Amino acid sequence: MTLIAWLIYIPLQFMWIAFSVIGVLWVAHKQIVRSKALGLSQTAVEIINGRWTGHVFGLRKDPASAKLAGKLPNNSLTGLRIALFPLWIAKQIAGAPILYPQLPEDEKSGIANMVFSRSRRFDGLLEEYVARSEQLVVLGAGLDTRAYGPLVTKNLKVFELDMPTPQRAKRKAVKRARLDAAHVHYVEADFADPNWINALSASPYDPQKKTVFLWEGVTLYLSEADVLKTLETIKGNAAAGSAVILDVYGNRMLDMARKGVFAKTLDATGEALNFGLDFSSDPESVLSAFVTSQGFDLGPYYFLGSSHKKGPYMVVATLEI
Ligand SMILES: C[S@@+](CC[C@H](N)C(=O)[O-])C[C@H]1O[C@@H](n2cnc3c(N)ncnc32)[C@H](O)[C@@H]1O
Repeated sequence: MTLIAWLIYIPLQFMWIAFSVIGVLWVAHKQIVRSKALGLSQTAVEIINGRWTGHVFGLRKDPASAKLAGKLPNNSLTGLRIALFPLWIAKQIAGAPILYPQLPEDEKSGIANMVFSRSRRFDGLLEEYVARSEQLVVLGAGLDTRAYGPLVTKNLKVFELDMPTPQRAKRKAVKRARLDAAHVHYVEADFADPNWINALSASPYDPQKKTVFLWEGVTLYLSEADVLKTLETIKGNAAAGSAVILDVYGNRMLDMARKGVFAKTLDATGEALNFGLDFSSDPESVLSAFVTSQGFDLGPYYFLGSSHKKGPYMVVATLEI
């Protein structure tokens, strides 16, 4: 069936190309121009659209993201559906996605499939660490929907931290999507403010309880000083046995994304890329040195894209307290 899917996909994509371009431009307009006008994050939309795609193409179940993605003022699911239509038809024929989206082995993971590869690793680590914790703190939560899914049990206290404007917009969208948010504590925080912890301390967060801090897709937008200070703050305000699950990006990926149109679009919403590590040689030692220099123990970690001659483009890692 895969061969038939390709035989149909190629001419269909060729005939559909004008519509695909319109779909992409429609999404881009909402994601970049509307985000800028509303003071929202375009990268958060990029990620939730990846999760929507993974859900619709059967790579990763995420009904909450699928609902939320359709309720955002700075997104167009119609545009996304139009852009991906030929690939969706091919998936229906083959029974699995062809070309895109894909979930390759970690070593072979490329940047086009980053959201799917990194989500798989975050999901696995979260399941393991949340099972032995009492609190989940989502740092730079953006449009993440883990607080509205199966991860959350009666005994888990959940906190979402983000800047005020994106967080208020998310809360409205969560309401429109009719997601149950009664158990979620929303805390406004900016990691560039060295006192951001005061807002979390003023909430029902309990520093004596074992906590998982999820910091996904955020460190690359912060300065090195803010990343280090935030880690120090977490360490000083979390119980022994807690963990930070985060991703750190390799300079090779950041350098690539700092060029051309991509850099200009990120500048439009003030999301220029910043902190990264040099994973071009001996990435394990680089990661280990970074983690231990901040006073954490390095737990499980997964490099993505290691088969590339310039080394992995990112790592999903656990920092244990
Ligand atoms: C790419 S999104 C990732 C969102 C989410 N973690 C996810 O994986 O879906 C980056 C998020 O980080 C937030 N962020 C960026 N800089 C921040 C800062 N200095 N303080 C707090 N949040 C920040 C943005 O508002 C945005 O929601």
